[in-house]
Amino acid sequence: MESKRWVSLVFFALILVGLSYSSHLFLKDSDQQVQSISFVSDLKTTILGFLDETSWVTIEDIDEEDIKPKHDVILTPNLSSCHKSLSDAGRPVYCCPPKHESLEPIIDFKFPDVSEPIKVRKPAHMVDADYIAKYNKAITIMKSLPYDDPRNFMRQANIHCIYCTGAYNQQNSNSLLKIHRSWMFFPWHRMMIYFHERILGSLIGDENFALPFWNWDSPEGMFIPDMYLYGSMVDTQRDSSHLPPRVADLYYDYHERGLGTVNQISTNLAFMYNQMVSGAKKTELFMGCPYKTGKKGYCDGPGTIELAPHNALHTWVGSNLNPEREDFGAFYSAARDPIFYAHHSNIDRLWNVWNELRGNKPAIEDPDWLDTTFYFHNEKSQLVRIKIRDVVDNSKLRYAYENVENVWLNARPKPSIPPQISRQILKMRESRNPFLDGRRLDTTIRVKLHRPKTHRSKIEKEQEEEIIVVYGIDISKDMYVKFDVYVNAVDESIIGPESREFAGTFVNMMKGVRILLNKEDLVMKRKTIFKVGITELLEDLDADDDETIWVTLVPRGGTGINTTVDGVRIEYLK
Ligand SMILES: *[C@@H]1O[C@H](CO)[C@@H](O)[C@H](O)[C@H]1NC(C)=O
Ligand SMILES: *[C@@H]1O[C@H](CO)[C@@H](O)[C@H](O)[C@H]1NC(C)=O
Repeated sequence: MESKRWVSLVFFALILVGLSYSSHLFLKDSDQQVQSISFVSDLKTTILGFLDETSWVTIEDIDEEDIKPKHDVILTPNLSSCHKSLSDAGRPVYCCPPKHESLEPIIDFKFPDVSEPIKVRKPAHMVDADYIAKYNKAITIMKSLPYDDPRNFMRQANIHCIYCTGAYNQQNSNSLLKIHRSWMFFPWHRMMIYFHERILGSLIGDENFALPFWNWDSPEGMFIPDMYLYGSMVDTQRDSSHLPPRVADLYYDYHERGLGTVNQISTNLAFMYNQMVSGAKKTELFMGCPYKTGKKGYCDGPGTIELAPHNALHTWVGSNLNPEREDFGAFYSAARDPIFYAHHSNIDRLWNVWNELRGNKPAIEDPDWLDTTFYFHNEKSQLVRIKIRDVVDNSKLRYAYENVENVWLNARPKPSIPPQISRQILKMRESRNPFLDGRRLDTTIRVKLHRPKTHRSKIEKEQEEEIIVVYGIDISKDMYVKFDVYVNAVDESIIGPESREFAGTFVNMMKGVRILLNKEDLVMKRKTIFKVGITELLEDLDADDDETIWVTLVPRGGTGINTTVDGVRIEYLK
Protein backbone atom coordinates (compact mmCIF):
# COMPACT_ATOMS: atom_id res chain seq x y z
CA MET A 1 0.00 0.00 0.00
CA GLU A 2 2.76 2.37 0.97
CA SER A 3 4.56 1.96 -2.34
CA LYS A 4 1.33 2.62 -4.22
CA ARG A 5 0.97 5.78 -2.23
CA TRP A 6 4.35 6.94 -3.41
CA VAL A 7 3.57 6.14 -6.99
CA SER A 8 0.42 8.23 -6.63
CA LEU A 9 2.32 11.14 -5.16
CA VAL A 10 4.83 11.19 -7.94
CA PHE A 11 2.09 10.87 -10.49
CA PHE A 12 0.16 13.81 -9.07
CA ALA A 13 3.29 15.87 -8.93
CA LEU A 14 3.85 15.23 -12.61
CA ILE A 15 0.31 16.28 -13.37
CA LEU A 16 0.76 19.53 -11.48
CA VAL A 17 3.88 20.31 -13.44
CA GLY A 18 1.97 19.44 -16.60
CA LEU A 19 -0.87 21.74 -15.66
CA SER A 20 1.30 24.72 -14.95
CA TYR A 21 3.25 24.12 -18.09
CA SER A 22 0.26 23.75 -20.36
CA SER A 23 -2.10 26.37 -18.96
CA HIS A 24 -1.18 28.88 -21.67
CA LEU A 25 -2.71 26.54 -24.19
CA PHE A 26 -6.22 27.27 -23.03
CA LEU A 27 -6.07 30.91 -23.92
CA LYS A 28 -6.58 30.47 -27.61
CA ASP A 29 -9.43 28.03 -27.23
CA SER A 30 -13.17 28.54 -27.06
CA ASP A 31 -15.22 30.13 -24.32
CA GLN A 32 -15.44 26.91 -22.39
CA GLN A 33 -11.71 26.48 -22.45
CA VAL A 34 -11.13 29.98 -21.19
CA GLN A 35 -13.34 29.24 -18.23
CA SER A 36 -11.00 26.45 -17.41
CA ILE A 37 -8.13 28.80 -16.59
CA SER A 38 -9.93 30.12 -13.59
CA PHE A 39 -10.05 26.72 -12.04
CA VAL A 40 -6.52 25.57 -12.58
CA SER A 41 -5.48 26.76 -9.14
CA ASP A 42 -8.69 25.44 -7.66
CA LEU A 43 -7.91 22.13 -9.30
CA LYS A 44 -4.46 21.98 -7.80
CA THR A 45 -5.99 22.46 -4.40
CA THR A 46 -8.42 19.66 -5.13
CA ILE A 47 -5.66 17.30 -6.13
CA LEU A 48 -3.55 18.23 -3.13
CA GLY A 49 -6.65 17.74 -1.04
CA PHE A 50 -6.77 14.13 -2.16
CA LEU A 51 -3.15 13.62 -1.27
CA ASP A 52 -3.72 14.51 2.32
CA GLU A 53 -6.26 11.84 2.75
CA THR A 54 -5.78 8.98 0.44
CA SER A 55 -3.75 7.37 -2.23
CA TRP A 56 -4.68 6.72 -5.80
CA VAL A 57 -7.45 4.15 -5.92
CA THR A 58 -6.80 1.30 -8.25
CA ILE A 59 -8.98 -1.62 -9.15
CA GLU A 60 -6.65 -3.86 -7.17
CA ASP A 61 -7.35 -1.86 -4.02
CA ILE A 62 -11.05 -2.04 -4.58
CA ASP A 63 -11.02 -5.79 -4.95
CA GLU A 64 -9.52 -6.03 -1.50
CA GLU A 65 -12.39 -4.02 -0.12
CA ASP A 66 -14.81 -6.50 -1.64
CA ILE A 67 -17.60 -4.10 -2.49
CA LYS A 68 -20.47 -6.11 -3.90
CA PRO A 69 -22.08 -4.81 -7.09
CA LYS A 70 -25.62 -3.70 -6.39
CA HIS A 71 -27.92 -5.23 -8.94
CA ASP A 72 -30.90 -3.09 -8.00
CA VAL A 73 -28.99 0.09 -8.81
CA ILE A 74 -29.09 1.26 -12.38
CA LEU A 75 -26.19 2.90 -14.10
CA THR A 76 -27.03 6.56 -14.64
CA PRO A 77 -25.34 9.92 -14.19
CA ASN A 78 -25.80 11.97 -11.06
CA LEU A 79 -26.99 15.16 -12.73
CA SER A 80 -26.01 17.36 -9.82
CA SER A 81 -22.43 16.11 -9.92
CA CYS A 82 -21.24 17.76 -13.16
CA HIS A 83 -17.74 18.98 -12.57
CA LYS A 84 -14.46 19.89 -14.16
CA SER A 85 -12.79 17.13 -16.04
CA LEU A 86 -9.64 16.51 -18.02
CA SER A 87 -8.95 16.01 -21.69
CA ASP A 88 -7.34 12.82 -22.98
CA ALA A 89 -3.91 14.26 -22.30
CA GLY A 90 -4.80 15.55 -18.87
CA ARG A 91 -5.57 19.20 -19.61
CA PRO A 92 -8.48 20.71 -17.68
CA VAL A 93 -11.75 21.15 -19.53
CA TYR A 94 -15.16 22.33 -18.39
CA CYS A 95 -18.17 21.19 -20.37
CA CYS A 96 -21.01 21.32 -17.83
CA PRO A 97 -24.27 23.07 -18.66
CA PRO A 98 -24.60 26.65 -17.31
CA LYS A 99 -26.91 25.35 -14.56
CA HIS A 100 -27.21 21.86 -13.10
CA GLU A 101 -29.59 19.71 -15.10
CA SER A 102 -30.90 18.33 -11.82
CA LEU A 103 -32.73 21.64 -11.44
CA GLU A 104 -34.72 21.10 -14.63
CA PRO A 105 -37.98 19.18 -14.93
CA ILE A 106 -37.40 15.74 -16.45
CA ILE A 107 -39.72 13.82 -18.75
CA ASP A 108 -39.54 10.14 -19.68
CA PHE A 109 -38.70 9.23 -23.23
CA LYS A 110 -41.61 8.44 -25.54
CA PHE A 111 -41.27 6.85 -28.94
CA PRO A 112 -42.10 9.24 -31.76
CA ASP A 113 -45.62 8.89 -33.09
CA VAL A 114 -46.07 6.28 -35.82
CA SER A 115 -47.61 8.95 -38.02
CA GLU A 116 -44.23 10.68 -38.18
CA PRO A 117 -42.38 10.19 -41.49
CA ILE A 118 -39.36 7.87 -41.38
CA LYS A 119 -36.24 9.98 -41.71
CA VAL A 120 -33.87 8.30 -44.14
CA ARG A 121 -30.15 8.83 -43.55
CA LYS A 122 -28.19 8.88 -46.80
CA PRO A 123 -24.47 8.57 -47.58
CA ALA A 124 -22.83 12.00 -47.18
CA HIS A 125 -21.03 11.72 -50.54
CA MET A 126 -24.33 11.23 -52.35
CA VAL A 127 -26.60 13.98 -51.04
CA ASP A 128 -27.73 16.80 -53.35
CA ALA A 129 -27.21 20.56 -53.19
CA ASP A 130 -30.65 21.23 -51.73
CA TYR A 131 -29.97 18.91 -48.84
CA ILE A 132 -26.56 20.47 -48.18
CA ALA A 133 -28.13 23.94 -48.18
CA LYS A 134 -30.76 22.82 -45.66
CA TYR A 135 -28.22 21.18 -43.38
CA ASN A 136 -25.98 24.27 -43.55
CA LYS A 137 -28.88 26.47 -42.60
CA ALA A 138 -29.77 24.26 -39.64
CA ILE A 139 -26.18 24.27 -38.35
CA THR A 140 -25.94 28.04 -38.81
CA ILE A 141 -29.06 28.53 -36.70
CA MET A 142 -27.81 26.06 -34.11
CA LYS A 143 -24.52 27.94 -33.82
CA SER A 144 -26.35 31.25 -33.40
CA LEU A 145 -28.45 30.13 -30.42
CA PRO A 146 -27.31 31.43 -27.02
CA TYR A 147 -25.16 29.09 -24.92
CA ASP A 148 -27.87 28.73 -22.29
CA ASP A 149 -30.12 27.13 -24.91
CA PRO A 150 -29.40 23.37 -24.81
CA ARG A 151 -29.91 23.19 -28.59
CA ASN A 152 -26.90 25.48 -29.13
CA PHE A 153 -24.19 23.80 -31.23
CA MET A 154 -21.48 24.06 -28.58
CA ARG A 155 -23.85 22.69 -25.94
CA GLN A 156 -24.50 19.74 -28.24
CA ALA A 157 -20.77 19.19 -28.65
CA ASN A 158 -20.28 19.43 -24.92
CA ILE A 159 -22.68 16.56 -24.24
CA HIS A 160 -20.02 14.36 -25.77
CA CYS A 161 -17.36 16.07 -23.69
CA ILE A 162 -19.34 15.53 -20.47
CA TYR A 163 -19.88 11.82 -20.98
CA CYS A 164 -16.45 11.14 -22.45
CA THR A 165 -14.14 12.96 -20.10
CA GLY A 166 -15.91 11.83 -16.93
CA ALA A 167 -17.65 15.06 -15.93
CA TYR A 168 -20.46 13.15 -14.20
CA ASN A 169 -20.27 10.80 -11.28
CA GLN A 170 -22.53 7.81 -11.39
CA GLN A 171 -25.62 8.09 -9.25
CA ASN A 172 -25.15 6.64 -5.76
CA SER A 173 -21.48 6.12 -6.37
CA ASN A 174 -18.24 7.97 -6.44
CA SER A 175 -17.27 6.30 -9.68
CA LEU A 176 -17.14 8.21 -12.90
CA LEU A 177 -19.47 7.64 -15.76
CA LYS A 178 -17.70 7.22 -19.09
CA ILE A 179 -19.32 5.87 -22.18
CA HIS A 180 -16.35 4.76 -24.25
CA ARG A 181 -14.44 1.46 -24.25
CA SER A 182 -17.42 -0.67 -23.20
CA TRP A 183 -20.89 -1.86 -24.24
CA MET A 184 -22.32 1.65 -23.77
CA PHE A 185 -20.50 2.92 -26.85
CA PHE A 186 -23.11 2.06 -29.50
CA PRO A 187 -26.34 2.90 -27.64
CA TRP A 188 -25.10 6.14 -26.10
CA HIS A 189 -23.99 7.56 -29.44
CA ARG A 190 -27.26 6.43 -31.03
CA MET A 191 -29.14 8.53 -28.47
CA MET A 192 -26.90 11.53 -28.87
CA ILE A 193 -27.25 11.81 -32.63
CA TYR A 194 -30.97 10.93 -32.53
CA PHE A 195 -31.74 14.03 -30.46
CA HIS A 196 -29.27 16.13 -32.43
CA GLU A 197 -30.97 15.16 -35.70
CA ARG A 198 -34.40 16.06 -34.37
CA ILE A 199 -33.19 19.42 -33.11
CA LEU A 200 -31.70 20.22 -36.53
CA GLY A 201 -34.97 19.28 -38.22
CA SER A 202 -37.04 21.42 -35.90
CA LEU A 203 -34.76 24.45 -36.36
CA ILE A 204 -35.58 24.47 -40.08
CA GLY A 205 -39.14 23.18 -39.70
CA ASP A 206 -38.45 19.98 -41.64
CA GLU A 207 -39.65 16.78 -40.03
CA ASN A 208 -38.06 14.75 -42.81
CA PHE A 209 -34.59 16.03 -42.02
CA ALA A 210 -32.13 13.17 -41.50
CA LEU A 211 -28.43 13.25 -40.75
CA PRO A 212 -26.16 11.95 -43.50
CA PHE A 213 -23.75 9.09 -42.82
CA TRP A 214 -20.09 9.11 -43.69
CA ASN A 215 -19.88 5.88 -45.65
CA TRP A 216 -16.13 5.37 -45.03
CA ASP A 217 -16.43 1.62 -45.38
CA SER A 218 -17.35 1.92 -49.05
CA PRO A 219 -14.67 2.76 -51.67
CA GLU A 220 -16.59 5.84 -52.93
CA GLY A 221 -17.07 7.12 -49.40
CA MET A 222 -13.50 6.72 -48.10
CA PHE A 223 -12.76 10.46 -48.29
CA ILE A 224 -13.83 13.39 -46.17
CA PRO A 225 -17.16 14.11 -47.89
CA ASP A 226 -17.14 17.35 -49.91
CA MET A 227 -20.07 18.81 -48.01
CA TYR A 228 -17.82 19.21 -44.95
CA LEU A 229 -15.47 21.52 -46.83
CA TYR A 230 -17.93 24.41 -47.21
CA GLY A 231 -20.11 26.82 -45.27
CA SER A 232 -21.09 26.07 -41.70
CA MET A 233 -19.86 22.47 -42.07
CA VAL A 234 -16.21 23.53 -42.12
CA ASP A 235 -13.98 22.90 -39.16
CA THR A 236 -10.61 24.59 -39.61
CA GLN A 237 -9.00 22.24 -37.08
CA ARG A 238 -8.43 19.27 -39.37
CA ASP A 239 -5.29 17.64 -40.74
CA SER A 240 -4.91 19.47 -44.07
CA SER A 241 -2.98 16.60 -45.64
CA HIS A 242 -6.00 14.35 -45.11
CA LEU A 243 -8.49 16.46 -47.04
CA PRO A 244 -9.81 15.04 -50.35
CA PRO A 245 -8.64 13.42 -52.53
CA ARG A 246 -6.74 11.60 -49.79
CA VAL A 247 -8.23 8.16 -48.99
CA ALA A 248 -8.93 7.61 -45.32
CA ASP A 249 -6.79 5.09 -43.47
CA LEU A 250 -9.28 3.12 -41.37
CA TYR A 251 -6.42 1.67 -39.39
CA TYR A 252 -4.54 4.96 -38.88
CA ASP A 253 -2.12 5.12 -35.96
CA TYR A 254 -0.48 8.57 -36.29
CA HIS A 255 1.79 7.17 -38.99
CA GLU A 256 1.35 7.77 -42.68
CA ARG A 257 1.51 4.36 -44.26
CA GLY A 258 1.94 5.89 -47.70
CA LEU A 259 -0.15 3.25 -49.44
CA GLY A 260 -1.42 4.31 -52.85
CA THR A 261 -5.14 4.88 -53.32
CA VAL A 262 -5.86 1.39 -54.64
CA ASN A 263 -3.88 -0.40 -51.92
CA GLN A 264 -5.33 1.75 -49.18
CA ILE A 265 -8.85 0.97 -50.33
CA SER A 266 -8.29 -2.78 -50.47
CA THR A 267 -6.56 -2.77 -47.07
CA ASN A 268 -9.48 -0.80 -45.63
CA LEU A 269 -11.99 -3.31 -46.97
CA ALA A 270 -10.11 -6.32 -45.61
CA PHE A 271 -9.80 -4.54 -42.27
CA MET A 272 -13.55 -3.84 -42.23
CA TYR A 273 -14.21 -7.51 -42.89
CA ASN A 274 -12.08 -8.40 -39.92
CA GLN A 275 -13.71 -5.85 -37.60
CA MET A 276 -17.28 -6.64 -38.66
CA VAL A 277 -17.18 -10.36 -39.39
CA SER A 278 -14.28 -12.63 -38.48
CA GLY A 279 -13.15 -10.65 -35.42
CA ALA A 280 -16.66 -9.91 -34.15
CA LYS A 281 -18.38 -13.28 -33.90
CA LYS A 282 -19.43 -12.83 -30.29
CA THR A 283 -21.27 -9.98 -28.63
CA GLU A 284 -18.48 -8.87 -26.34
CA LEU A 285 -15.97 -8.74 -29.18
CA PHE A 286 -18.19 -6.34 -31.12
CA MET A 287 -20.10 -4.42 -28.43
CA GLY A 288 -17.33 -4.12 -25.84
CA CYS A 289 -17.12 -5.32 -22.26
CA PRO A 290 -20.00 -5.19 -19.74
CA TYR A 291 -19.70 -1.97 -17.76
CA LYS A 292 -21.79 -1.86 -14.61
CA THR A 293 -22.34 0.37 -11.64
CA GLY A 294 -19.84 1.15 -8.96
CA LYS A 295 -16.18 0.40 -8.74
CA LYS A 296 -16.52 -3.33 -9.26
CA GLY A 297 -18.52 -2.70 -12.41
CA TYR A 298 -15.70 -0.88 -14.17
CA CYS A 299 -14.40 -2.42 -17.36
CA ASP A 300 -12.13 -1.33 -20.16
CA GLY A 301 -12.54 -3.39 -23.31
CA PRO A 302 -13.78 -1.67 -26.44
CA GLY A 303 -15.33 -3.62 -29.29
CA THR A 304 -13.72 -4.05 -32.70
CA ILE A 305 -15.38 -1.09 -34.45
CA GLU A 306 -14.84 1.29 -31.56
CA LEU A 307 -11.11 0.57 -31.58
CA ALA A 308 -10.89 1.10 -35.31
CA PRO A 309 -12.13 2.55 -37.61
CA HIS A 310 -13.85 4.66 -34.92
CA ASN A 311 -10.79 5.80 -32.98
CA ALA A 312 -8.54 5.67 -36.00
CA LEU A 313 -10.68 8.11 -37.99
CA HIS A 314 -11.02 10.50 -35.06
CA THR A 315 -7.26 10.74 -35.03
CA TRP A 316 -6.92 10.83 -38.80
CA VAL A 317 -9.29 13.80 -39.28
CA GLY A 318 -8.13 15.96 -36.35
CA SER A 319 -5.41 18.54 -36.87
CA ASN A 320 -1.85 17.29 -36.56
CA LEU A 321 -0.89 20.81 -35.40
CA ASN A 322 -2.90 20.57 -32.16
CA PRO A 323 -1.64 18.81 -29.03
CA GLU A 324 -4.45 16.25 -28.98
CA ARG A 325 -5.34 16.44 -32.65
CA GLU A 326 -8.34 18.65 -31.87
CA ASP A 327 -11.03 19.02 -32.86
CA PHE A 328 -11.87 15.55 -34.02
CA GLY A 329 -8.99 13.74 -32.37
CA ALA A 330 -9.88 14.42 -28.72
CA PHE A 331 -12.97 13.35 -26.78
CA TYR A 332 -13.65 16.79 -25.33
CA SER A 333 -13.66 18.57 -28.71
CA ALA A 334 -14.64 15.87 -31.24
CA ALA A 335 -18.31 16.84 -31.58
CA ARG A 336 -17.40 20.45 -32.44
CA ASP A 337 -16.64 19.18 -35.93
CA PRO A 338 -19.92 18.69 -37.82
CA ILE A 339 -18.46 15.58 -39.42
CA PHE A 340 -18.79 13.91 -36.00
CA TYR A 341 -22.50 13.33 -36.55
CA ALA A 342 -21.97 11.66 -39.93
CA HIS A 343 -19.12 9.55 -38.53
CA HIS A 344 -21.34 8.27 -35.72
CA SER A 345 -24.27 7.86 -38.04
CA ASN A 346 -22.18 5.35 -40.01
CA ILE A 347 -21.11 3.58 -36.82
CA ASP A 348 -24.76 3.43 -35.83
CA ARG A 349 -25.60 1.93 -39.23
CA LEU A 350 -22.85 -0.67 -38.81
CA TRP A 351 -24.36 -1.70 -35.47
CA ASN A 352 -27.55 -2.52 -37.42
CA VAL A 353 -25.56 -4.34 -40.10
CA TRP A 354 -23.83 -6.48 -37.48
CA ASN A 355 -27.20 -7.32 -35.94
CA GLU A 356 -28.55 -8.30 -39.36
CA LEU A 357 -25.51 -10.52 -40.00
CA ARG A 358 -26.41 -12.51 -36.89
CA GLY A 359 -30.10 -12.77 -37.76
CA ASN A 360 -31.18 -9.93 -35.45
CA LYS A 361 -31.08 -12.13 -32.34
CA PRO A 362 -31.00 -9.85 -29.29
CA ALA A 363 -27.29 -9.41 -28.56
CA ILE A 364 -27.52 -8.36 -24.92
CA GLU A 365 -30.43 -9.22 -22.65
CA ASP A 366 -28.79 -8.21 -19.41
CA PRO A 367 -31.12 -5.74 -17.61
CA ASP A 368 -28.08 -3.88 -16.31
CA TRP A 369 -27.41 -2.83 -19.88
CA LEU A 370 -31.04 -2.38 -20.97
CA ASP A 371 -31.87 -0.18 -17.97
CA THR A 372 -28.80 2.02 -18.16
CA THR A 373 -30.23 5.53 -18.31
CA PHE A 374 -29.02 8.80 -19.80
CA TYR A 375 -30.38 12.32 -20.21
CA PHE A 376 -30.59 14.44 -23.35
CA HIS A 377 -32.47 17.56 -24.37
CA ASN A 378 -35.01 17.09 -27.11
CA GLU A 379 -36.07 19.52 -29.86
CA LYS A 380 -38.36 21.30 -27.39
CA SER A 381 -35.45 21.81 -25.00
CA GLN A 382 -37.02 19.39 -22.51
CA LEU A 383 -34.70 17.15 -20.56
CA VAL A 384 -35.51 13.54 -21.46
CA ARG A 385 -34.68 10.43 -19.44
CA ILE A 386 -33.93 7.59 -21.85
CA LYS A 387 -32.83 3.98 -21.38
CA ILE A 388 -30.74 1.77 -23.59
CA ARG A 389 -33.78 -0.50 -24.07
CA ASP A 390 -35.50 2.43 -25.82
CA VAL A 391 -32.95 2.56 -28.61
CA VAL A 392 -32.19 -1.08 -29.32
CA ASP A 393 -34.58 -1.06 -32.29
CA ASN A 394 -34.04 2.04 -34.38
CA SER A 395 -37.20 1.54 -36.46
CA LYS A 396 -39.17 2.61 -33.37
CA LEU A 397 -37.18 5.85 -33.44
CA ARG A 398 -38.54 6.65 -36.92
CA TYR A 399 -35.26 6.78 -38.76
CA ALA A 400 -33.62 4.38 -41.17
CA TYR A 401 -30.56 4.05 -43.37
CA GLU A 402 -30.60 4.07 -47.12
CA ASN A 403 -29.51 0.66 -48.31
CA VAL A 404 -25.93 0.63 -49.52
CA GLU A 405 -23.78 -2.27 -50.57
CA ASN A 406 -21.41 -3.43 -47.86
CA VAL A 407 -18.52 -4.10 -50.20
CA TRP A 408 -16.29 -5.41 -47.38
CA LEU A 409 -18.53 -8.46 -47.00
CA ASN A 410 -16.70 -9.77 -50.07
CA ALA A 411 -13.27 -8.68 -48.90
CA ARG A 412 -12.37 -11.69 -46.77
CA PRO A 413 -8.58 -11.50 -46.51
CA LYS A 414 -6.33 -14.19 -47.96
CA PRO A 415 -3.18 -15.70 -46.45
CA SER A 416 -0.05 -13.79 -47.48
CA ILE A 417 1.74 -17.11 -48.10
CA PRO A 418 0.07 -20.42 -48.96
CA PRO A 419 -0.52 -22.14 -45.58
CA GLN A 420 1.27 -25.34 -46.55
CA ILE A 421 4.43 -23.33 -47.21
CA SER A 422 4.22 -21.24 -44.05
CA ARG A 423 3.64 -24.40 -42.04
CA GLN A 424 6.97 -25.81 -43.26
CA ILE A 425 8.79 -22.61 -42.40
CA LEU A 426 7.15 -22.28 -38.96
CA LYS A 427 8.04 -25.89 -38.09
CA MET A 428 11.69 -24.90 -38.07
CA ARG A 429 11.12 -22.20 -35.46
CA GLU A 430 12.08 -22.91 -31.90
CA SER A 431 9.21 -23.09 -29.46
CA ARG A 432 8.68 -20.00 -27.30
CA ASN A 433 7.10 -19.91 -23.89
CA PRO A 434 3.70 -18.16 -23.88
CA PHE A 435 4.20 -17.03 -20.25
CA LEU A 436 5.95 -13.76 -20.77
CA ASP A 437 5.99 -12.59 -17.14
CA GLY A 438 6.09 -8.93 -17.86
CA ARG A 439 8.12 -8.98 -21.06
CA ARG A 440 8.62 -5.53 -22.54
CA LEU A 441 6.80 -4.98 -25.81
CA ASP A 442 9.54 -2.84 -27.34
CA THR A 443 10.08 -5.42 -30.07
CA THR A 444 7.98 -8.08 -31.72
CA ILE A 445 7.07 -10.99 -29.41
CA ARG A 446 6.44 -14.45 -30.83
CA VAL A 447 4.97 -17.32 -28.84
CA LYS A 448 3.86 -20.84 -29.67
CA LEU A 449 0.46 -21.66 -28.16
CA HIS A 450 -1.05 -25.02 -27.46
CA ARG A 451 -4.72 -25.22 -28.50
CA PRO A 452 -6.87 -26.98 -25.88
CA LYS A 453 -9.38 -28.15 -28.51
CA THR A 454 -8.96 -29.17 -32.12
CA HIS A 455 -11.35 -30.79 -34.59
CA ARG A 456 -14.30 -28.82 -33.30
CA SER A 457 -17.58 -29.29 -35.15
CA LYS A 458 -19.36 -26.46 -36.93
CA ILE A 459 -21.92 -26.24 -34.14
CA GLU A 460 -19.25 -26.18 -31.43
CA LYS A 461 -17.55 -23.36 -33.29
CA GLU A 462 -20.75 -21.39 -33.50
CA GLN A 463 -21.40 -21.88 -29.82
CA GLU A 464 -17.92 -20.98 -28.68
CA GLU A 465 -15.56 -18.66 -30.46
CA GLU A 466 -11.89 -19.47 -30.06
CA ILE A 467 -10.11 -16.34 -28.90
CA ILE A 468 -6.57 -15.24 -28.25
CA VAL A 469 -6.25 -13.44 -24.94
CA VAL A 470 -3.28 -11.17 -24.40
CA TYR A 471 -3.30 -10.71 -20.63
CA GLY A 472 -1.51 -8.58 -18.08
CA ILE A 473 -0.91 -5.69 -20.48
CA ASP A 474 0.70 -3.11 -18.25
CA ILE A 475 1.07 0.37 -19.70
CA SER A 476 3.38 2.17 -17.34
CA LYS A 477 2.06 5.63 -18.12
CA ASP A 478 -1.07 7.10 -19.55
CA MET A 479 0.05 6.89 -23.15
CA TYR A 480 -0.94 5.86 -26.64
CA VAL A 481 -0.04 2.24 -27.34
CA LYS A 482 -0.85 0.16 -30.37
CA PHE A 483 0.08 -3.39 -31.25
CA ASP A 484 -1.17 -5.90 -33.79
CA VAL A 485 -1.79 -9.59 -33.24
CA TYR A 486 -0.93 -12.09 -35.99
CA VAL A 487 -1.38 -15.84 -36.24
CA ASN A 488 1.08 -18.12 -38.06
CA ALA A 489 2.78 -15.17 -39.73
CA VAL A 490 6.13 -15.90 -41.32
CA ASP A 491 7.19 -12.28 -41.70
CA GLU A 492 4.86 -9.91 -39.87
CA SER A 493 7.01 -6.92 -40.73
CA ILE A 494 5.73 -6.88 -44.31
CA ILE A 495 2.04 -7.65 -43.82
CA GLY A 496 -0.97 -5.86 -42.35
CA PRO A 497 -4.75 -6.12 -42.16
CA GLU A 498 -4.96 -7.06 -45.84
CA SER A 499 -3.54 -10.50 -44.92
CA ARG A 500 -5.45 -13.26 -43.25
CA GLU A 501 -2.69 -13.72 -40.66
CA PHE A 502 -3.78 -10.39 -39.11
CA ALA A 503 -6.12 -11.13 -36.18
CA GLY A 504 -6.66 -7.74 -34.64
CA THR A 505 -5.23 -4.58 -33.23
CA PHE A 506 -5.01 -3.34 -29.66
CA VAL A 507 -5.16 0.42 -29.12
CA ASN A 508 -4.78 2.23 -25.82
CA MET A 509 -5.84 5.86 -26.02
CA MET A 510 -4.68 8.30 -23.41
CA LYS A 511 -7.33 8.56 -20.74
CA GLY A 512 -6.15 11.56 -18.80
CA VAL A 513 -6.48 11.64 -15.05
CA ARG A 514 -10.04 11.86 -13.92
CA ILE A 515 -11.19 14.42 -11.45
CA LEU A 516 -14.17 13.78 -9.29
CA LEU A 517 -15.75 15.43 -6.34
CA ASN A 518 -14.69 12.81 -3.85
CA LYS A 519 -11.47 11.08 -3.05
CA GLU A 520 -12.66 7.64 -4.12
CA ASP A 521 -13.50 9.01 -7.49
CA LEU A 522 -10.18 8.26 -9.09
CA VAL A 523 -10.44 4.82 -10.52
CA MET A 524 -7.75 3.50 -12.73
CA LYS A 525 -7.07 -0.01 -13.76
CA ARG A 526 -3.44 -0.85 -14.21
CA LYS A 527 -3.36 -4.03 -16.20
CA THR A 528 -5.65 -4.68 -19.09
CA ILE A 529 -6.42 -7.58 -21.41
CA PHE A 530 -7.12 -7.87 -25.10
CA LYS A 531 -9.33 -10.50 -26.74
CA VAL A 532 -9.52 -11.33 -30.40
CA GLY A 533 -11.62 -13.99 -32.17
CA ILE A 534 -9.79 -16.41 -34.49
CA THR A 535 -12.13 -19.29 -35.39
CA GLU A 536 -12.64 -18.21 -38.99
CA LEU A 537 -9.06 -17.09 -39.40
CA LEU A 538 -7.78 -20.54 -38.37
CA GLU A 539 -9.97 -22.14 -41.02
CA ASP A 540 -8.63 -19.81 -43.69
CA LEU A 541 -5.05 -20.49 -42.59
CA ASP A 542 -5.69 -24.22 -42.73
CA ALA A 543 -4.66 -24.39 -39.07
CA ASP A 544 -7.96 -25.53 -37.65
CA ASP A 545 -6.72 -28.98 -36.73
CA ASP A 546 -3.24 -27.99 -35.62
CA GLU A 547 -2.37 -28.54 -32.00
CA THR A 548 -0.24 -25.44 -31.85
CA ILE A 549 -0.25 -22.02 -33.47
CA TRP A 550 2.22 -19.17 -33.54
CA VAL A 551 1.02 -15.85 -32.22
CA THR A 552 2.93 -12.64 -32.80
CA LEU A 553 2.50 -9.31 -31.05
CA VAL A 554 3.82 -6.46 -33.16
CA PRO A 555 4.15 -3.03 -31.52
CA ARG A 556 3.46 -0.20 -33.96
CA GLY A 557 5.33 3.07 -34.19
CA GLY A 558 7.58 2.34 -31.22
CA THR A 559 4.60 2.66 -28.87
CA GLY A 560 5.25 -0.54 -26.95
CA ILE A 561 8.41 0.74 -25.28
CA ASN A 562 6.97 1.15 -21.79
CA THR A 563 4.38 -1.58 -22.03
CA THR A 564 4.81 -5.08 -20.65
CA VAL A 565 2.76 -8.21 -21.19
CA ASP A 566 2.29 -11.16 -18.84
CA GLY A 567 1.30 -13.71 -21.44
CA VAL A 568 -0.89 -14.99 -24.24
CA ARG A 569 -3.42 -17.83 -24.05
CA ILE A 570 -6.35 -19.37 -25.87
CA GLU A 571 -9.86 -19.28 -24.45
CA TYR A 572 -13.36 -20.00 -25.70
CA LEU A 573 -16.02 -17.30 -25.61
CA LYS A 574 -19.77 -18.08 -25.61
C1 LIG B 1 -25.05 13.51 -6.45
O1 LIG B 1 -23.95 14.39 -6.39
C2 LIG B 1 -24.04 15.34 -5.35
C3 LIG B 1 -22.86 16.28 -5.52
O2 LIG B 1 -21.68 15.57 -5.37
C4 LIG B 1 -24.04 14.63 -4.02
O3 LIG B 1 -24.15 15.57 -2.98
C5 LIG B 1 -25.22 13.67 -3.98
O4 LIG B 1 -25.18 12.92 -2.79
C6 LIG B 1 -25.18 12.72 -5.15
N1 LIG B 1 -26.40 11.97 -5.17
C7 LIG B 1 -26.45 10.67 -5.43
C8 LIG B 1 -27.81 10.04 -5.35
O5 LIG B 1 -25.48 10.00 -5.74
C1 LIG C 1 10.11 4.59 -20.87
O1 LIG C 1 10.80 4.05 -19.78
C2 LIG C 1 12.16 4.48 -19.66
C3 LIG C 1 12.80 3.76 -18.52
O2 LIG C 1 12.70 2.39 -18.73
C4 LIG C 1 12.17 5.98 -19.45
O3 LIG C 1 13.50 6.44 -19.40
C5 LIG C 1 11.44 6.68 -20.59
O4 LIG C 1 11.31 8.04 -20.34
C6 LIG C 1 10.05 6.10 -20.80
N1 LIG C 1 9.47 6.64 -22.02
C7 LIG C 1 8.22 7.07 -22.11
C8 LIG C 1 7.80 7.58 -23.44
O5 LIG C 1 7.45 7.04 -21.18
